[in-house]
Amino acid sequence: MSEEILRNHRELWRQKPVLRAIYSDFYERITAACRPGLSLEIGGGSGNLKDFAREVVSTDIVQVPWLDAAADAQALPFAAGSFANVVSVDVLHHIERPRRFLAEAERVLQPGGRVILLEPAITPISWAFYRFFHPEPVVLSADPLADGPLDSNREPFDANQAIPTLLFERDRQRMIQAFPGLKIVQLKRLSLFAYPLSGGFRSWSLISAAIVGPMLNLERRLSPLIGRLAAFRLFVVIEKQDAYSNSRHL
Ligand SMILES: C[S@@+](CC[C@H](N)C(=O)[O-])C[C@H]1O[C@@H](n2cnc3c(N)ncnc32)[C@H](O)[C@@H]1O
Repeated sequence: MSEEILRNHRELWRQKPVLRAIYSDFYERITAACRPGLSLEIGGGSGNLKDFAREVVSTDIVQVPWLDAAADAQALPFAAGSFANVVSVDVLHHIERPRRFLAEAERVLQPGGRVILLEPAITPISWAFYRFFHPEPVVLSADPLADGPLDSNREPFDANQAIPTLLFERDRQRMIQAFPGLKIVQLKRLSLFAYPLSGGFRSWSLISAAIVGPMLNLERRLSPLIGRLAAFRLFVVIEKQDAYSNSRHL
């Protein structure tokens, strides 16, 4: 079932230029934030990052032939210090225990390495859209740092879209205390109109690929002003501190 969803996503990616235009911007932001060296992608899904980034090992909890390996982000099958970056698009909010993922990312990163995440942002406007027009739940009462046994019946696409906003905004101080070796160096709210109007990985779109560029330029100017009210995306860069670093979070 999960592999079938990912195959459909691959097909949609091929057929939908507006989707490729919007995600090109996401992937360019991710690759620009990467440290030099090997990157690990978790939750690689339909495998599109590989078209944009060269030195990347792409994995997913679902085993699919177009990715490099199967890997649960909560128990990564890689040695400590293997990667310069751990990157993902729309995966954190699908992970049952985000704190296990953060601990694993910290372990497999080299000192100074980065975790780079693109996730849903819950703002007053995006909340209404995600709540009523998107199939994944938005549970604002959840504890994003909760731990406990993993549910063996959980599906890879089970989700709580609020997790990134809860973890990096509402419960940010708790997250910082839980992970003193990780420092949030960038947190940006993105995606005002083009992404929701494109329908994302759905078959419909209300805009064409041709106007994505001008729309994103306008969004770059507006996001600092109205991002808190209307952004649909959170872009987060976290750096693994070396033993002597004592610098402050963003
Ligand atoms: C919404 S899809 C995003 C796929 C891809 N990154 C993209 O942007 O198109 C979420 C992906 O996370 C994967 N996933 C869910 N739980 C995971 C986990 N614990 N470890 C690794 N991947 C996971 C799913 O199998 C799925 O491919």
